[in-house]
Amino acid sequence: MELAEVFRFTGMTAVVTGAGSGIGRETATVLAEAGARVIVADLDGGAAEDTAAHIVKAGGQAEARQVDVSDPADVARLVTGAVEQTGRLDVMVNNAGIMLRKPALDITPEEFERVLSVNLKGVLYGCQSAARVMKPGGSIVNTLSTIVDFSTAGTGSYAASKKGAEALTRTFAVELGPRGIRVNGVAPGWTDTGITRGRSFDENGAFDQQGFDALAGRMAGSAPLGAVATTRDTALAVLYLASQASRCVTGHVVRVNGGASMA
Ligand SMILES: NC(=O)c1ccc[n+]([C@@H]2O[C@H](COP(=O)([O-])OP(=O)(O)OC[C@H]3O[C@@H](n4cnc5c(N)ncnc54)[C@H](O)[C@@H]3O)[C@@H](O)[C@H]2O)c1
Repeated sequence: MELAEVFRFTGMTAVVTGAGSGIGRETATVLAEAGARVIVADLDGGAAEDTAAHIVKAGGQAEARQVDVSDPADVARLVTGAVEQTGRLDVMVNNAGIMLRKPALDITPEEFERVLSVNLKGVLYGCQSAARVMKPGGSIVNTLSTIVDFSTAGTGSYAASKKGAEALTRTFAVELGPRGIRVNGVAPGWTDTGITRGRSFDENGAFDQQGFDALAGRMAGSAPLGAVATTRDTALAVLYLASQASRCVTGHVVRVNGGASMA
């Protein structure tokens, strides 16, 4: 296969969840740049519309869908709808995620349930729905996190959800491999997105740019490459995992974190 062919997604359909913002928005954009018709799905329907409009304006093909990944029926509708409309599903990116920063000792059952519902069960439902309709050659990519490699205070529910999603990624890779469907993960490091910016607003709703930049600097300083990942860096890793360039790669987690963790 010629190099240009390897990364050509013309005629293919990709679904990206959490595509209204951050890493998902950039992933949807990159897949569309590579030629895919992208279903841009997000809990925030307006944000999904915005991403789809941005892609279409740049000459790509995209349509927005409102979805709650913690609702299995909603996810099933998203995927079957994509197939009814385009006749196929080639790439499923289970990217939607939320963060709760709280000491593990204080997490309420409701909070724990919410984080697991989106970050872990959302990945389960996305993999199940995609696997039911995908043909051999299909690729599923789950957005995990560098948190799968180490623990930090206040990230108990998030780490549990991402570690669980990593386990699901490997299990689905084993179960779907014989059907020619690959399942991999990307583990971004600290990235400037809605999730990380959300921590830098004070009680009056003002954004602490200086504090945010200092945090970004500390994160970059802790990585061997001395840099933090951009949303584009992770989107390009997803592109690799979605493409034929990774046709012999499954059950793998690509770490996009400047070398902050290695496994
Ligand atoms: N930003 C980072 O530093 C970082 C690091 C590692 C992993 N991640 C992971 O990357 C993924 C994307 O996060 P991001 O950093 O782009 O944050 P973000 O907040 O910019 O984007 C997350 C998107 O997910 C959507 N979403 C939330 N709950 C949803 C639900 N129930 N159903 C559908 N959509 C939902 C949000 O509306 C939002 O548009 C997440 O899984 C996150 O855990 C982020």
